[in-house]
Amino acid sequence: MTTTTSAHTRVFSGMRPTGELHIGHLFGALGNWVRLQEHAECIYCVVDLHALTTGYEDVGGIRRSGQLMVADWLAVGIDPERSIIFRQSDISEHAELATMLGMITPLSWLERVPTYKGQIAELGEGIDTFGFLGYPLLQTADIILYKATEVPVGQDQLPHLELAREVVRRFNNLYGPVFPEPQARLAESPLILGVDNRKMSKSYGNAITMGASDEEIDRLVGSMVTDPQRIRKSDPGRPDVCNVWAYHKLFGTSPAEMETIFAGCTSAELGCVQDKRALAETIKSVIRPIRERRAAFLEDPDKIEDILADGARRAKAIAAPVLAEAKAAMGL
Ligand code: TRP
Repeated sequence: MTTTTSAHTRVFSGMRPTGELHIGHLFGALGNWVRLQEHAECIYCVVDLHALTTGYEDVGGIRRSGQLMVADWLAVGIDPERSIIFRQSDISEHAELATMLGMITPLSWLERVPTYKGQIAELGEGIDTFGFLGYPLLQTADIILYKATEVPVGQDQLPHLELAREVVRRFNNLYGPVFPEPQARLAESPLILGVDNRKMSKSYGNAITMGASDEEIDRLVGSMVTDPQRIRKSDPGRPDVCNVWAYHKLFGTSPAEMETIFAGCTSAELGCVQDKRALAETIKSVIRPIRERRAAFLEDPDKIEDILADGARRAKAIAAPVLAEAKAAMGL
């Protein structure tokens, strides 16, 4: 779903404060966020209220997780001069607009969002809260409070964007054309598996994080699963089924080196161990500068807080008049 962005495009996206990010985020959402800054006004939000929908019991880490996440955003090139970076809970308009939208949103619309029943089944009774049911409505408020036109998200968020568009249409039909219908903008990112070929997740310990040390990178790459049919070095390998090969492509190993690796692997001259060593070097060269930048930010959390405070001021300047417009339209 590639559309051209114009100067009038306003981009909004958010991430729950989950702490340190990994290369799945880098090559998925974040890479896209960074690129969009070239073409559009971008607003990126630490959605800490959303974090409460699944984690309301243990809240001690939310602020720190937000800082860690923002350090990663900054380290990969989200530019706080060009883009607005802020915390959702700093702008009370999000909660107000979500309440107002709740008045016109049938319960059935929220109940049929596929993530809802699925996650309840997966995570159990504990998240069977009003806030969890309303998750996509708060997300709708996030987006339309800035009259954002484009929302870079992963495939999994499409049902939420569909709901947002439905709610916007209902609002505009009832009270007049206040909000544009936001469009999802899918990143063309490949599926990135963890080093064990499972879904990449911090909780599986199979993810290369933005702060990974050289030793960790060696260890994780060393543990990678290659072509399962290549048992001995003398068996020719099949790069197209090998995660090490996929990572070479992802991390931008040079075309010349890729050619050598492909030839060596398929002719059984290059062993997996050697191939992994080459990959580890490439990954280190990509991660090292990110790791150093994030460490510099994390040494100075006040700087991160200043960036978020500045972002909140700029976000408020957009959000307050839009909320006023919505209130007036609703007769408040
Ligand atoms: N639900 C999104 C996710 O889990 C996070 C999110 C919250 C978001 N508000 C948003 C994404 C607004 C885009 C726009 O990834």
